[in-house]
Amino acid sequence: MAQVTGKVCVTGAGGYLGSWVVKHLLSNNYTVHGTVRQPGDAKYAYLNQLERASHNLQLFKADVLDYDSLCSAITGCTGVFHVASPVPSTIGTLNVLKACVESNVKRVVVVSSVAAVSLNPRWPVGQIKNEACWSDKEYCAATKNWYCLSKTEAESEAFEFAKKSGLDVVTVCPTMILGPLLQSTINASSKVLINLLKEGYDSLENKIRKIVDVRDVAQALLLVYEKPAAEGRYICTAHAIKARDLVDMLRSMFPEYNYPKSFTEGGEEDTVSSEKLQRLGWSYRPLEETLVDSIESYKKAGILD
Ligand SMILES: NC(=O)c1ccc[n+]([C@@H]2O[C@H](COP(=O)([O-])OP(=O)(O)OC[C@H]3O[C@@H](n4cnc5c(N)ncnc54)[C@H](OP(=O)(O)O)[C@@H]3O)[C@@H](O)[C@H]2O)c1
Repeated sequence: MAQVTGKVCVTGAGGYLGSWVVKHLLSNNYTVHGTVRQPGDAKYAYLNQLERASHNLQLFKADVLDYDSLCSAITGCTGVFHVASPVPSTIGTLNVLKACVESNVKRVVVVSSVAAVSLNPRWPVGQIKNEACWSDKEYCAATKNWYCLSKTEAESEAFEFAKKSGLDVVTVCPTMILGPLLQSTINASSKVLINLLKEGYDSLENKIRKIVDVRDVAQALLLVYEKPAAEGRYICTAHAIKARDLVDMLRSMFPEYNYPKSFTEGGEEDTVSSEKLQRLGWSYRPLEETLVDSIESYKKAGILD
């Protein structure tokens, strides 16, 4: 069973979510092996400046598509947080899981996505989607949703592998992640918010945005790692808000940006629930806090200039 504190590995430690996971683990007294692809690169310097990093963080050069490079990072670890996401992610995930078996890892937390949950045309219309809902691989391929297909394949194969090998695998499926950046590069989900502030779109679809804070996702990953009762998959989402309402909320707090000028109405939309994760003890912060902290971090990094 997972052990509270000890030595753990985080794949993709230099990414947006990965770096928050590392920060969170360090502040909870874990010793962390972080994998990055170019350890000498200045873009990872901030990781070594995190609190407790000088003693408790070691960076390893590893590509998840290269099994051997992963083994040295995972050896000696009790747990692994697989956050890195190459596309296609199936080979990477299976390499991580094989290295975990080899190293006798007690629990692996795999970051999947709501993309592996929600693309299912057979789910009853109007019914809230929970962990029993899986994206339909054929439908993902037919609609050319390659990210959805890749995350669905990686997550389902992770559970297949767990069944065959006896490895303890738990997955977390976040919706769109926002919140402050620790790193200097901009990841895809932060870009969505940055574009809302900067692009001045003539028209934007008034779709529901399902949002969760990066710090709350890091907390969820630690929770499912530490709680012995955690099993299977966990949807991780906090707020569902229409694009127009999100823009109104942003404008009321930060009137100075170049917001979308109009909205178009779309079709039917689905709802997902994090009830299972909340039953395990997870909670989340208010959306206003996520938005304010995101924008303050973009300002500090000069991204909004
Ligand atoms: N952001 C969201 O809204 C969202 C929502 C749901 C799920 N997710 C999932 O959350 C995870 C992290 O996403 P993110 O937003 O933090 O993305 P990100 O900032 O782009 O980070 C992705 C990380 O993956 C690493 N990576 C890519 N290919 C790799 C490879 N072949 N070997 C090793 N590492 C590799 C990158 O490492 P380098 O530093 O070496 O380039 C980077 O650190 C992903 O699994 C993603 O699918 C994200």
